[in-house]
Amino acid sequence: MNKATRKAVIAGNWKMNKTPAEAKALIEEMKPLVAGADCEVVLCVPFVDIPAAIEAAKGSNIKIGAENVHFKASGAYTGEIAANMLKELGVEYVVIGHSERRQYFGETDQTVNLRTLAALEGGLKPIVCVGETLEQRELGYTETLLKFQTKMALTNVKASELKDVVIAYEPVWAIGTGVTATADQADEGNGFVRAAIAEAYGAEVAETVTVQYGGSMNAKNAEELVAKVNVDGGLIGGASLKAADFAVIVSAASDK
Ligand code: 13P
Repeated sequence: MNKATRKAVIAGNWKMNKTPAEAKALIEEMKPLVAGADCEVVLCVPFVDIPAAIEAAKGSNIKIGAENVHFKASGAYTGEIAANMLKELGVEYVVIGHSERRQYFGETDQTVNLRTLAALEGGLKPIVCVGETLEQRELGYTETLLKFQTKMALTNVKASELKDVVIAYEPVWAIGTGVTATADQADEGNGFVRAAIAEAYGAEVAETVTVQYGGSMNAKNAEELVAKVNVDGGLIGGASLKAADFAVIVSAASDK
């Protein structure tokens, strides 16, 4: 298996943007623009937008994802959302361990792992985010860090479950900054992630896993990024809030 046989996944991460009514309007606008996609098209939206998003996406090729999930199935965890709650609504994917959650909400490699296991257990496909800060890159720790984060996130995940796992390499310094990693930097980072999976599960399994790039991916740079051998689509923040831009990215991934 190689890039040609791995299906690219283009996922929008709306972060804390759009009300339910705005979500409906944006998805209605996107639907015809991405209808011909030859890649997986996913929109990860705020929890409260999910019912409206599912309804709006009905009958289209757009899959809906959440932006987080709790690691317990139920219990006294005020303010948290469990996998089965998302599943019942029709959610298919969930972003886990985004750098904003690591930075602002105390997310650790351990909780990322627990959430990944809970997502899989609950029948959701985790999009697990890993990535180095600028300081870590400048100190030369990028490879070590990406491999460590990847292996930690996948602890106790079975090889047979990796078909449902997406890893997103998102260099922290490229998120929301307008500074995109060069296509070579993205390919290298994604390659480190794939190498970590190979070390843990073997090269053959690693070749089957979807590894996205994320960080200021946009309508202009998407084509060059997704053309790289290790880049199987993208996790898109800002550009996923604009229907036309998101559609261009989906189309760039469909050509590969
Ligand atoms: P931007 O595309 O806005 O840089 O965000 C990337 C990201 O964090 C996606 O999860």
